[in-house]
Amino acid sequence: MTTHYFTASSLDGFIATTDHSLDWLTSQDFDWDGPMSPTSFVEGVGAIAMGATTYEWILANDDGWSYNVPAWVFTHRDLPTVDGADVRFTSASVTDVHAQMAEAAGEKNIWIVGGGDLAGQFADAGLLDEVWIQYAPVTLGDGAPLLPRPLSMELLETVRNRALVCARFEVVK
Ligand SMILES: NC(=O)c1ccc[n+]([C@@H]2O[C@H](COP(=O)([O-])OP(=O)(O)OC[C@H]3O[C@@H](n4cnc5c(N)ncnc54)[C@H](OP(=O)(O)O)[C@@H]3O)[C@@H](O)[C@H]2O)c1
Repeated sequence: MTTHYFTASSLDGFIATTDHSLDWLTSQDFDWDGPMSPTSFVEGVGAIAMGATTYEWILANDDGWSYNVPAWVFTHRDLPTVDGADVRFTSASVTDVHAQMAEAAGEKNIWIVGGGDLAGQFADAGLLDEVWIQYAPVTLGDGAPLLPRPLSMELLETVRNRALVCARFEVVK
């Protein structure tokens, strides 16, 4: 079991615009069955975590809840639930939540969906193993940060998926 932060980013290190738009990303040519796509990545995932903004974005923009593994949503607020979804709202420490996620995931991996600061909180606790980034050929100038921490990583793999260049890194601990 390893813990991965898998996300798409602009070239200047933002995962959403200041108003939380992903139009710059969804407009890109991308093969969902191609290399390093979320489709194959999620097959190895047994538990996910995300912050409140990402959860609210999914509720507002996605066509239903597409995750069939337990999801921990970090928040200090009462957020709406999704019928049939295993969503666990929490403001516990990332260390405690990670232990719960590991138990749920079993042999499978943990996916930190975002945002970047939440992935950074797991990294701060020494719990982030890999970072997978799908870089779109745009700059945004400002927005939600990719991973606002000083972290060293080793490049494990790069591949092109149509318009995007995808890279996988191991966090140096
Ligand atoms: N490009 C991509 O592939 C991709 C991937 C994921 C997300 N996104 C987008 O990126 C943006 C990320 O938004 P964001 O930077 O605001 O990050 P976020 O992690 O989605 O949300 C941040 C919020 O999560 C809650 N939170 C974070 N850590 C917590 C903790 N330890 N305990 C309790 N609550 C905690 C807080 O909410 P409250 O205190 O208000 O409850 C905080 O304001 C969103 O627009 C999302 O849609 C893009």
